[in-house]
Order: sequence, then C-alpha cells, then structure tokens
Amino acid sequence: MLILGIETSCDETAAAVVRDGRYVLSNIIASQIDVHREYGGVVPEIASRKHIENIGRVVDTALREADTDKRQIDAVAVTSGPGLVGALLVGLSYGKALSFALNKPLIGVNHIEGHICANLLGENPVSPPFICLVVSGGHTHLLRVSDNWKIEVLGRTRDDAAGEAFDKTARALGLPYPGGPSIDLLAKQGNPNAIPFPRALSDEAGFSFSGLKSAVLNYLNKQRMMGEAFSQADVAASFQKAVVDVLTDKAIAACMKLNINTLALAGGVASNSALRKSMRMSCEKNGITLFVPPPIYCTDNAAMIASRGYFRWKQGKISSLDLNANPDVGDFSEM
Ligand code: KG4
Ligand code: ZN
Repeated sequence: MLILGIETSCDETAAAVVRDGRYVLSNIIASQIDVHREYGGVVPEIASRKHIENIGRVVDTALREADTDKRQIDAVAVTSGPGLVGALLVGLSYGKALSFALNKPLIGVNHIEGHICANLLGENPVSPPFICLVVSGGHTHLLRVSDNWKIEVLGRTRDDAAGEAFDKTARALGLPYPGGPSIDLLAKQGNPNAIPFPRALSDEAGFSFSGLKSAVLNYLNKQRMMGEAFSQADVAASFQKAVVDVLTDKAIAACMKLNINTLALAGGVASNSALRKSMRMSCEKNGITLFVPPPIYCTDNAAMIASRGYFRWKQGKISSLDLNANPDVGDFSEM
C-alpha cells in the first residue's frame, strides 16, 4: 500500500511516499524559514502563497524520489488541521484534486495524530499502550494511547505551547526564528543552573509556559535597566532547563501513575538535544522504554501524515471531497 502524504499546516511544504505506513520511500520538505525569519515568525498570508508556489514541485519530487508514478499511489493523505487555515487549504485542495483526478481515496489527517505516527516509521515502531508527549510550536499535549489505540488527553498547555515559549524567549534574546534550534545551540555554552527560572508544575498533567516566558522577560529587563551584564548563553540554558525539567517530570510521572512503561516523544521540540538527553536518562532510571523519532520526523514532515493516513485507511476512514480545513485541534480519533 503506497500512500502519498501532503503537509502544509504551517511553514513547511512537504510531501512523502510511505509504504504500509512504515517505510519511507521519499520525504521532501521545502522549508519557508528563510522567508519568515525577517519577520521574526510565520506570516500566515506569506505561508499560503509560498505553499502555492512550492506544492506542485514538492509532490512531483516526492514521487520521483520514491521511484513511483502518481498512478501507482493507492491513496492520498493530507493534513486537514489543526494549523493555519490558508496554509492548510493549499495542501488540502491539491490533495483533493489529485484524489479526484486519479480516482484514489482521499484521507484527511489530524496533524497531531500525524506527529504521534512519526514513532511508527521504520523498523522499530512503538506499540501501545504508551504515553505520548507531543511538543510542537502550537501544541503541548500529554496523551495516553491505549491497547486499542484510543487516545486520551491527560493534559495540555493552558497558555503557550512549549515551542512557542522557545520562539518567544529566543526573540527576547534577539536570536533568529525559529527560536528552538537557536536556543538549543546557544544553551550548549551556558550554565543551566545559573538562573532559577520557575517551573510551573501546578496541576497534574497540564502545562503552563507563559509565566516562564514572563520570568525571562523580567530578568532581561531588570538586567538591562540596572546596566548589569548577563550571559545570553546562561539565560538560554536556564530557560531550556526549566522547560525540559517540567516536560520530563510530567511525562515520567504519567508513566509511573498509569503503570505504562513506554514513552514516545513527538513534535518539533522533541528534536531538542537537552530534552532528548533528559528523557533518556529519566527513562533509563525508571525502567521506561523511550521512543524518539529522528529530528527530521519530529519537525513538520509529510511521512508522518502518510503513515497516519495508512492506519486511517485500514480502519476504512476515507474522507469525502467536501472535507474542509479545520484550524482547531478537534477531537482525536482512534489511532
Ligand atoms: O512540530 P513543528 O515543526 O511545527 C508545529 O506543528 O508547530 O514544531 C515547530 C516548533 C517551533 O516552535 C520550533 O522552535 C520548535 O518546534 N523546535 C525546537 C527545536 N527544533 C524545533 N525547540 C527546541 N529545540 C529544538 N532543537
Ligand atoms: Zn507540527
């Protein structure tokens, strides 16, 4: 079963061909980061226009690199939400047109469920039950995936997403967009224990990162107003540690409480080197098996969308051509 996946929910135009939901034959990503960087973040209208410019070429390249032809594809899987509505509509319209012209099934995919499926790619796929921490630019979700692949939300962020906190903090430090990779890099030269930024551990499985962002801003303003020198690298490392500590503690606590010994990470922030290290160490200490996709499958890509599409197709969940883009998270379906 060959699935063509299409992803345009934010600022990556991506297409991939995946066999049987697991084997990636091609994975093409046209990133718009350079265009949005000069504005310090994603400009939705520009993102939509860039997707329109790129989508045809990206899909053709994915088919060519997979050594296949569009007529050999068995189904088209496309992200229908959550995301930027104008951006989503480009991939969705393209996917619908392909599906109609080729007379192949169309499968709408939830972007967050796609992120989870990054853990199903390759030779060693995760199997349920497991806890999944999805940490991206727009979402922070702690999920339980049960034996029957049912998804239950254990907690989510009350305000900023983890990636958003990285992006906003980076901006305050004058680092380029996207902030996650910039902070990850700078933090390597800093002392993570230099500044005691707060850890919001309030309710059990929920998250809150806006207080941490304010604490960083207050610290920077105070130092600047007092004319006191400070180390950018120490701020980056201390901020990063505050995020990593909370994410690690809550994910491990959920595993222990629910007696589940498998943890999977997903989403752009899961490519953070400090988070990967901290999760590896804590999982090892607590006898938990950790699944972390390679960084290229953590940030937005279409291989994860094709994988999710395959499993939806197996459940007979085919979409009709009136499928619309949905900018909200919506309800999770059974995997
Ligand atoms: O999953 P993703 O590519 O897009 C969304 O669905 O949002 O996640 C993008 C987010 C951005 O906020 C970016 O700063 C963050 O992931 N990110 C990172 C790293 N790489 C990307 N955050 C921390 N460390 C990284 N190495
Ligand atoms: Zn994403």
